[in-house]
Amino acid sequence: MPTEQKEVIFAVFVASFIFFILAVLVILLLYNYFRVRIQREKEILKTVFQTQESEQNRISEDLHDDIGGKLSALKLQNELLYTELINESTKEIVVQNATLIDTIVKDIRNIVRNQSSKYLLQNGLRSELSSLFDQYKKLKGIHVELKFLITELNLLPDFQIAIFRVLQELLHNSVKHSKASIIKLSIANTSNKLEIIYSDNGKGFENLSPENAGMGLKNIKTRVQLYHGQIQFTSETDIATTFRIQFELAAISSKK
Ligand SMILES: Nc1ncnc2c1ncn2[C@@H]1O[C@H](COP(=O)(O)OP(=O)(O)OP(=O)(O)O)[C@@H](O)[C@H]1O
Ligand SMILES: [Mg+2]
Repeated sequence: MPTEQKEVIFAVFVASFIFFILAVLVILLLYNYFRVRIQREKEILKTVFQTQESEQNRISEDLHDDIGGKLSALKLQNELLYTELINESTKEIVVQNATLIDTIVKDIRNIVRNQSSKYLLQNGLRSELSSLFDQYKKLKGIHVELKFLITELNLLPDFQIAIFRVLQELLHNSVKHSKASIIKLSIANTSNKLEIIYSDNGKGFENLSPENAGMGLKNIKTRVQLYHGQIQFTSETDIATTFRIQFELAAISSKK
């Protein structure tokens, strides 16, 4: 082969090699750019949810301490008033006032418990979910079945809050939209996965397109994605609506 031809082949080889290296570099840079961007977006979303939680905690504390305190004082004054009264019909009104105050205190206690994540972190997911489902059972007359089959997992506190908010929204939706009479929830784990299955026997989704999702369903999706989870959903008109949510344990639990 003539020397000139050899030089051309060598030059083509070197140029191809440089081009290949540059292409690999560009791909690596782009990959890293998008990886960092997705990570940053996730961090921002986590901060948004955390800020939302702190604000809910603050409002709950104000409700509990301020309004709750004033209602206790009102109850005491009402009791004192009762002892001073002689007229039976006026006494009856004061008794009705006492019942009304008790109902308001109970309602406020429920709001505080549902909005503040303090109780969840203190008492644990199982206890707070049972209490949430009990409220729906008592107040809405819905038959609820809660199966909590997880072993000691050391779930991350932020994840526990996220899951509680997801289930709160699913429960709220079943009551608001589906006219369900039975709601079932099971939370179980295998050696490497956590699986949550939630279902109601309501009227089902009329239209499955993502466009008809409101803030509730969008927030559920975002919260699940933040922990690299997967969510599947099936709905049969007038039979059942089921949500199946799965997470890798490594993404949602802290090492012991
Ligand atoms: N369990 C359910 N059964 C039947 N339809 C449902 C159920 N859950 C949600 N839907 C339907 O999906 C729609 C979107 O729900 P989504 O929670 O996103 O919004 P929303 O409840 O209407 O408003 P919000 O933003 O306050 O949650 C609802 O308007 C309703 O039509
Ligand atoms: Mg909703």
